[in-house]
Amino acid sequence: MDKIYWGADAGLAAYHRSRFEEFKTSGSEAFEKACRAEDGRLKHVVSAEHLDLALLKIIHDTTNAARRISKIEPEFLKGLLRHTSVLNYFPQPSTRTFLSFSRAESKLGIQREEVRDLKTSSTAKGESDLDALRTQSSFYEGMVVRHPSDLYGHFTVWAMQNSRRPLHIFNAGSGTKEHPTQAILDHYTMEESLGEIDGKTIAFYGDCLRSRVIHSGARLLALHKEMTVYFVAPEHLQIDTETEDYIAQRGVTVHKIKTGIGELPSFVDVNYMTRLQDEYGAGSQSEKYPTNLVFTEDHLRMMPETSILMHPMPKREEIDPRLDYIDDKRIMLWRAQRNGMWTRAGTMAYVFGVDEQIRNKYTFLEKKMEKMMRPRR
Ligand code: NCD
Repeated sequence: MDKIYWGADAGLAAYHRSRFEEFKTSGSEAFEKACRAEDGRLKHVVSAEHLDLALLKIIHDTTNAARRISKIEPEFLKGLLRHTSVLNYFPQPSTRTFLSFSRAESKLGIQREEVRDLKTSSTAKGESDLDALRTQSSFYEGMVVRHPSDLYGHFTVWAMQNSRRPLHIFNAGSGTKEHPTQAILDHYTMEESLGEIDGKTIAFYGDCLRSRVIHSGARLLALHKEMTVYFVAPEHLQIDTETEDYIAQRGVTVHKIKTGIGELPSFVDVNYMTRLQDEYGAGSQSEKYPTNLVFTEDHLRMMPETSILMHPMPKREEIDPRLDYIDDKRIMLWRAQRNGMWTRAGTMAYVFGVDEQIRNKYTFLEKKMEKMMRPRR
């Protein structure tokens, strides 16, 4: 879905769009190359397809180290990136992702600013998204972007290729296709809860077709061995063949279930709920969330002790409200949000090149504490 604003003049818009089309048709390898520095390090986090298990380990270890350092020596973290500035560019609505990025930046001492309402920007004067991006890039070292266009990740990387600014891009959700930092936080939460992800079974319930969270999340699961993934949705909300083929080709056993949640919670390791993404419908208010996809107390009772319930939030009717009043360690909805702040700190630390410093500092502090705890002779 091209919801990119190419400017007020139709002729100019067509010209710029055709230049972008050229970049897109150069293929996924060229796109990935544009996202990496010469030494192979990822400089833009825009697509889940660019992540691998080695990088996820780096991000998770950095996340854990930063999390612990913040309790002992928060000033160390705050000093790391105090000369770095980031724009949080969120023309599409957001609460969690916006705030968790903002808090992550604050923990790392990053100077941060935001643009959320395009009515107050030069877009209102007919400035194209392309010129807006290049203007914004003049002032910052990084940009966190959330946008309704499926192509916005591609678009920002392409736009930055035309500029000499060494800017880093973080995709905080683009249209229905990509939400890589949500996938990182979900991967972290699963690993934290299940210990090991290899060999596990995950059920995605709800809007499998339009959930960018599912599209990015499923791609990260496909990095693991012997995975089984259930997509549980009615026909018109079932997973697209592109995602199904991508993960199946990487060895994931895929099941598509149209009959609702049923008995799945009794044997899957992760129950992953999503809301109806009706903002991407044809404006039809008539879209209704299927009642056989509502997660109830019965489903919770069925769940093995070691399994978990997740939801990227915001939630609506897809989880029985009674679950909000049950204190159960398998319900990971709220803890995952804090994980989101810390994994975003870990991801940004990696991209801005201070991840090793964070991990080394934690190793040093750990040794120091061990020494202090050792009994005196
Ligand atoms: C999700 C999103 O925006 O894609 N929310 C989030 O980032 N945590 C899911 C949703 O909006 O349903």
